[in-house]
Amino acid sequence: MPIDSATFRSVLGRFVSGVTVVTACDAGGVDHGMTVSAFCSVSLEPPMVLVSIAHDAALHPVLLKQDELAVSILSASQEPIARRFAEKLDNRFGGVGFTRGITGAPLIEGALAVVEGRVIHRHPGGDHTIFVAEVLAASATMDEPLLYYRGGYGHLPR
Ligand SMILES: Cc1cc2nc3c(=O)[nH]c(=O)nc-3n(C[C@H](O)[C@H](O)[C@H](O)COP(=O)(O)O)c2cc1C
Repeated sequence: MPIDSATFRSVLGRFVSGVTVVTACDAGGVDHGMTVSAFCSVSLEPPMVLVSIAHDAALHPVLLKQDELAVSILSASQEPIARRFAEKLDNRFGGVGFTRGITGAPLIEGALAVVEGRVIHRHPGGDHTIFVAEVLAASATMDEPLLYYRGGYGHLPR
């Protein structure tokens, strides 16, 4: 019998992660973005990453139809961005600085690092879909990361 969801959340919340904003620009030119911690590296050769997106997220149907996406890995000072992109807002991008890279997806200004990719696999994952993307471009800064742990944000100073 599977464990209950409270136990699942509590246990998995012990696994420290970074925080990202996954973005895509749909065929109509509308930008979409949401906070995602389920992001990781998949393959080195060729370089591939994955994001796991809930079926009920607004970004989900967008990524079923189109392939280009970007992942902005947030820096320590970007907790307000993490909160903003996890809230129900009409325009999450309002007042948020961003540029566009080679995929056309928004890249959040001030991010610790950015990865741009093209979705090449879509795997079922319960109430989520796992989108595997081939990495087309990536860049990083020397800032400190924003962390997520046991339902709260944290920092990792070096
Ligand atoms: C720190 C953090 C990490 C999150 N990680 C994920 C994730 O990996 N996948 C996911 O589907 N939702 C994740 N969420 C929830 C979504 O950001 C949130 O439900 C968002 O509102 C969904 O977008 P929508 O409102 O446009 O549908 C996370 C939220 C937070 C605060």
